[in-house]
Amino acid sequence: MTATTPRGASPALEEPFIPLAVPELRGNEARYVQECLDSGWVSSAGAFVERFEADVASAVGARHAVATASGTAALHVALLVAGVQPGDEVLVSALTFIAPANAIRYAGAWPVFIDAEREYAQLDPAQVAEFLAGCEPCAGGGVRNPRTGRRVRALLPVHVLGHPVDMDPLLALARATGLAVVEDATESLGARYRGRPVGRLGDVACFSFNGNKLVTTGGGGMLVTDDPALADTARYLTTQAKDDAIEYVHGAVGYNYRLTNVQAAIGVAQMERLDQLLGAKRRIAGRYAEGLRGVAGLEPMAEAAWARSAWWMYTVRIDERSFGMDSRALMRALEDRRIQTRPLWQPLPLSPAHADAVPRACPTAGDWNRRALSLPCSCGLTDGQQERVIEAVREIAATRGGRVG
Ligand SMILES: Cc1ncc(COP(=O)(O)O)c(C=O)c1O
Repeated sequence: MTATTPRGASPALEEPFIPLAVPELRGNEARYVQECLDSGWVSSAGAFVERFEADVASAVGARHAVATASGTAALHVALLVAGVQPGDEVLVSALTFIAPANAIRYAGAWPVFIDAEREYAQLDPAQVAEFLAGCEPCAGGGVRNPRTGRRVRALLPVHVLGHPVDMDPLLALARATGLAVVEDATESLGARYRGRPVGRLGDVACFSFNGNKLVTTGGGGMLVTDDPALADTARYLTTQAKDDAIEYVHGAVGYNYRLTNVQAAIGVAQMERLDQLLGAKRRIAGRYAEGLRGVAGLEPMAEAAWARSAWWMYTVRIDERSFGMDSRALMRALEDRRIQTRPLWQPLPLSPAHADAVPRACPTAGDWNRRALSLPCSCGLTDGQQERVIEAVREIAATRGGRVG
């Protein structure tokens, strides 16, 4: 304790705070934003919007990209262009941030929550197969769920935490049943599935550029597809469905979902450093795997043999009995050391927001929710900061916390 430490204050309070994930904005972001301000192109048209779309399309290998105000907006429009109609059902991951389920409701459809698998926290294809096996053929595409009488129209796998879903079995099921596939790739820009970029595996895919994502525009999203008709409809719907912009003729109820040029300017600068950002995440993951090896009751994040994760989050699983405390107690103990961590999401079948969806048991999502904790993983995390996190976890494990519950 130093001479300046107030009486009773813990030395840990003097340690600088280590946040879970903050953006890395040290490239051309300010310069490009200044260009927007100087030119007056600050709104939803401008060269940076088109450049950002081209950059993301090229990084993913997709033919078309449509920039949107958020990842949630991209998901909403993706479901509409994929043919989801009010009253349809969409199969979606039970373990995910809530946005994709909300987007299904915006489209007037119903989410059917499918449990996660045990190893990588992703949508479990075996459970999708089991659900679809109980459905009946339906004229006009998709299948009918005999329990609700509703048409199942689409699959919405969410590649959570930077790791891909095991897509091949899902794509085969979608082909066999006539389901559209909308990928929620919002957390996984840069990830690969069996060598193919995430975001190129279904009919249409969505990315997010929220502040906590690998690439950020402050807020923003993107829809990508190889299908020119889907891209055109998405562009039309996200820009108020204008048939004649001068005479204000609108052919449908559209949305004001377009990204601004200022946001896109930040995105272009961020995309210039995509490989660097991905490299930083991979190094952080490697150092955690090394530094936390052998801690009893702590299971590090795994990467499937068929995957190249973008390592958006670094998430560990805590076994309360062998670690000596549960994930929430570890979160609080780290918080006392000024280290921010976060659990995974409440499983969506338990969410009050989706209480009117047909209830489905998703025990593995529940297990991930109870046991998982994401550790600080900003691309700018220094070796010293990461060492502090690793040391703190090891120390807490060694003393079994002292503060359990
Ligand atoms: C899995 C998932 N889907 C969708 C979204 C929504 O993206 P946005 O916040 O850009 O609307 C997010 C994150 O924010 C997400 O993590």
